[in-house]
Amino acid sequence: MKTDRHKHRFFRVLSNQKVAVKTWEMVLEGDTSDFTAPGQFVNIAVEGKYLRRPISVCDIQEDRLILLYDVVGEGTEGMSEMQPGSTADILTGLGNGFNLSAATEKPLLVGGGIGCAPLLQLARMLCAEGKRPIVVLGFNTAADVVLKKDFVALGLEVYISTADGTEGTRGFVTHAIAANNLDFDYFYACGPLPMLRALCETIEQPGEVSLESRMACGFGICMCCVLETKSGLKGICKAGPVFPKDELIWK
Ligand code: FES
Repeated sequence: MKTDRHKHRFFRVLSNQKVAVKTWEMVLEGDTSDFTAPGQFVNIAVEGKYLRRPISVCDIQEDRLILLYDVVGEGTEGMSEMQPGSTADILTGLGNGFNLSAATEKPLLVGGGIGCAPLLQLARMLCAEGKRPIVVLGFNTAADVVLKKDFVALGLEVYISTADGTEGTRGFVTHAIAANNLDFDYFYACGPLPMLRALCETIEQPGEVSLESRMACGFGICMCCVLETKSGLKGICKAGPVFPKDELIWK
């Protein structure tokens, strides 16, 4: 679903705090009208950095924009230093999003690590349509777990996998899906490429996945995020980041 209608906007940072070992939550206030679907992203300017940082939208509640991000380098470290009350320079409404109309009565949402973030708004919107998604979240260890309580608060079944077995099923999200014999007829996923590949190769049901990629411009100009798909070369930032499972080529 093509929904990109990005704009350059300024938001006020309301809070910015650590919520897990390497994960931070930033809540911003501003004009959220450019976002048209869950799964879109922003490109946020960080002081002292030439390139913006692409961060997927975790949730939107009226004029509140909630971002969840891992601090993994200088750019995201700079984000973690943005103080409440400061102004954030943001390109909003980037990319397409998840296709809500594709969801059946029992969709499965699968998130790996920080890839769990865009699934929260998706879950909230599916619930508003009367659907009951099942949620599977995968992490390395229990201390990395985020958003579990938010999905539980929506009244959803939530299954956790951790690579070291410290919470939920030991192993990966695919192990949690199999171990719990989950019954679903469509899936949405976001997370690291190996996880997405494993899902696409093992799940028979149709679905769509949100790809992570290196990005610069975020809106289809620089061509640094080009991906070969079954219908030709596409920029992940503009044609994606969400792609139907059947569009992807795994090499
Ligand atoms: Fe520039 Fe995708 S990030 S084209």
